[in-house]
Amino acid sequence: MSDKQEMPGLDGLDRGTAHNARVWNHWLGGKDNYSVDRAVGDHIFGMFPNIVHVARADRAFLGRVVRFLAEECGVRQFLDIGTGLPTVDNTHEVAQRVAPESRIVYVDNDPLVLMHARALLTSTPEGATDYIDADAREPGTILEAASDTLDFDRPVAVMMLGILNFVIDDDQARATVARLMDAVPSGSYLVLTHPTLELGGEGNVEAMKFWNENATPPITSRTGREIARFLDGLDLLEPGLVSCAHWRPEFAELDGTPAQVSQYGAVGRKP
Ligand SMILES: C[S@@+](CC[C@H](N)C(=O)[O-])C[C@H]1O[C@@H](n2cnc3c(N)ncnc32)[C@H](O)[C@@H]1O
Repeated sequence: MSDKQEMPGLDGLDRGTAHNARVWNHWLGGKDNYSVDRAVGDHIFGMFPNIVHVARADRAFLGRVVRFLAEECGVRQFLDIGTGLPTVDNTHEVAQRVAPESRIVYVDNDPLVLMHARALLTSTPEGATDYIDADAREPGTILEAASDTLDFDRPVAVMMLGILNFVIDDDQARATVARLMDAVPSGSYLVLTHPTLELGGEGNVEAMKFWNENATPPITSRTGREIARFLDGLDLLEPGLVSCAHWRPEFAELDGTPAQVSQYGAVGRKP
């Protein structure tokens, strides 16, 4: 995306600081980012080249899980928090290919994601999509707005991919997940991905430090043990908490053994 067309600040976009949604889009090979995002993203790639595989494996995991939940588990409602910029195979496209009546609510707090949200609102006539401009740390606000589209008496897949790492405080992150999962009925699911310094992620220490000094919002990694606590009280689906590239790769369209990436992925079912 060219940086020059609009006066900085007039549209609410901050072109002077790298933003996660835009850098993530750059790592995914997208064009919805500015030079500051590319510069920071490329610098981090130089420090920790695995980051591009992390982003791509995370998106591939999203596609496999949504298809699995729709096809194998009959899930028809998705609350996708920390959506990111629209890309290939967003949650509603995957879900509605399986079941056109699926209802999806997206949530992000990045101004550029809000500007591109129209691309997320292309529902089938039988289903519905909505976009909420809200902070993941305010689950009450999210639940209230999402109830316009989702029926909280029926199962919901709460998708938190690459988002709890921006809720730095452990207690707040756990309370946020608990509040969301309290609001959904038995038979609902929690889907997580989260960066870690395990699984070959040791090289990410300095890269994350660089991120926190040069970009926004601040990020944290967690250990597998810490991430597993978000799933407390849920039945963990096979294969458990693993590198997201290794979560049911047989469900992927492509053959081949995926590389390990330092991003945990897991799905838990509310009993
Ligand atoms: C790493 S991207 C993940 C995007 C997508 N879930 C995926 O897995 O490809 C994280 C997203 O979370 C959003 N985000 C970060 N902090 C947030 C917050 N406090 N509230 C809402 N969204 C947030 C960012 O704007 C970004 O779009």
